[in-house]
Amino acid sequence: MSVYPVPDVQHLWDSLPPESVASALAEPSTLTTVLRDALHVALPNLDIEYIEHVVVGAMLTSLAIDQRPVLPMLDTANFSKSAALPHFLWGLLYDAWQPEPSTGTTLFVTGYPDRNVATPSNPHPPSNLRKRIYWSAVTADLMPLYSAKITGFFTQLLDDGNANQPLMALYLGSYYKDLYWDLHLGLTAADVPAFSQQIGQSFNIVLANATPTMQLVYDNYLQVRALRPQLNSWLTAQISRLATTPDPSTLVHYWLQNSALGTDPNFRTADIMFECFHDFVALSQWGNTIYNTIKLLNVDDGSANVRAAFRAAMQSTSSNTAAFDSLDRFIMELFRFINPNSASISTFDDPPLANSPFEQYRYVFTPHAEASSYELHWTNPQVFDPDRFLTTPLAAHNDEARSAEIGFAQCPFTPESFTVQDGRNVQIANSIFGTTYPVVDGVDSAVCDYAGYAPFGFGYRRCPGELLNVRVIRDFLQLVWDQKIEFHKLPLTDPVQQPVGPLTVVPDIYGFERVAPSIFMA
Ligand code: HEM
Repeated sequence: MSVYPVPDVQHLWDSLPPESVASALAEPSTLTTVLRDALHVALPNLDIEYIEHVVVGAMLTSLAIDQRPVLPMLDTANFSKSAALPHFLWGLLYDAWQPEPSTGTTLFVTGYPDRNVATPSNPHPPSNLRKRIYWSAVTADLMPLYSAKITGFFTQLLDDGNANQPLMALYLGSYYKDLYWDLHLGLTAADVPAFSQQIGQSFNIVLANATPTMQLVYDNYLQVRALRPQLNSWLTAQISRLATTPDPSTLVHYWLQNSALGTDPNFRTADIMFECFHDFVALSQWGNTIYNTIKLLNVDDGSANVRAAFRAAMQSTSSNTAAFDSLDRFIMELFRFINPNSASISTFDDPPLANSPFEQYRYVFTPHAEASSYELHWTNPQVFDPDRFLTTPLAAHNDEARSAEIGFAQCPFTPESFTVQDGRNVQIANSIFGTTYPVVDGVDSAVCDYAGYAPFGFGYRRCPGELLNVRVIRDFLQLVWDQKIEFHKLPLTDPVQQPVGPLTVVPDIYGFERVAPSIFMA
């Protein structure tokens, strides 16, 4: 499973008439059209443009797997974030089926050197400025504001009326309407138009199933393309509303305030719009995390060890002076086990494409589950042990002294800082490994900066949503505990398959009920 899936399309190659492959090989410049035309005969239901860009795009993609990192960072030169999105997915984001960053772009596909464009008013911007502006919306001090929305959402989800029903259908059915747009724009329920929910659901279906020739994927891919103009007009209006009527409980508020209302070239209004759209992918991973958390906690075929660790975390009476309290440690261990995002994805140019016309789009994956369970980093990596995070290094501690201790001649990433422009006393700093972290009112936010903790990636490109992710699962688990909720496997003979995250379609087989005394309390 991966955040940006690369499908296995070997069967398409196998289905091609040998003469088509031979003809394409004889004249590589005709490769795309030869493949497109051959497939158009075999796949008459699919539009020819879609076949060319999506189906052939997937066939001409190759993927290499990187080593497990020993330090929590990735090289800025050889492995790039620039356009690091499997080619066959570009049509979801751009009309032209390929990147057109001038019309808006996202941090996720921006290479490190392009993240700090100098301007006359800011001739020496800190490195990774685009990332630091993104971070301004997800710092630790904002979590109580978001938490009110998150807890409201989960309270509805875990309402008695939903007991003993497949939970993921209910989650996916309400998440865009009652949480996603609320966090971004401060809108819920009737204020969220149907198309803005539909496009998110379609996006999610494409990423979860990720087989370009599936009718379901095809229909939803085209649906995303059809709805995007409407979404863009709506987002333009909403962003301009938030520019004139600030709402500090929204992500967009901080992006606006820290980009001179969308005029900074490092975070233009078009980019804010794009981030709202790209976040369909980012936040979709909550579905996967919640499903797998329930799977581990459920009393029928879950893990007794994980249930015991949950109970211990909730009943902990320790003074919580550690960087991460007992519940955060439990959640971090859940993430280390689940790894909802399987790999960091990079593009690379060297060595140049020489030998194979079939590998036009090349990517490297740095795998997360493998890094998270690497015995070089952990004693007993297969054991569920939240307390392993009592001693792991924090980003704020990975400083120049540490660099010298490791034996580096110089810091791989020099310390730089961005002070937010929205009136708060917040800086976005970075460790020697490039990992960015907030400093709020002079206090460093705890971010585990360790190569064995891989669910959120590595270094300069690590997930800025990390604190929010932990908060979402925290609010969910707190409700589970407070409301004495237990998860069960439902007696379903033919469960519905639900798209809970990228490359992740699961049988919707778990439900909940309130019990007293709860097994968790035992
Ligand atoms: C369970 C939920 C999530 C997981 C597991 C996750 C994981 C990741 C990982 C592994 C990366 C690095 C990918 C790479 O280097 O190729 C990443 C990047 C990113 N994530 Fe998340 N993410 C989650 C949720 C979020 C949320 C909620 C947000 C926003 C609020 C977010 C925003 C981003 C952005 C903007 C990047 C690009 C960072 C950069 O390139 O500098 N993610 N995420």
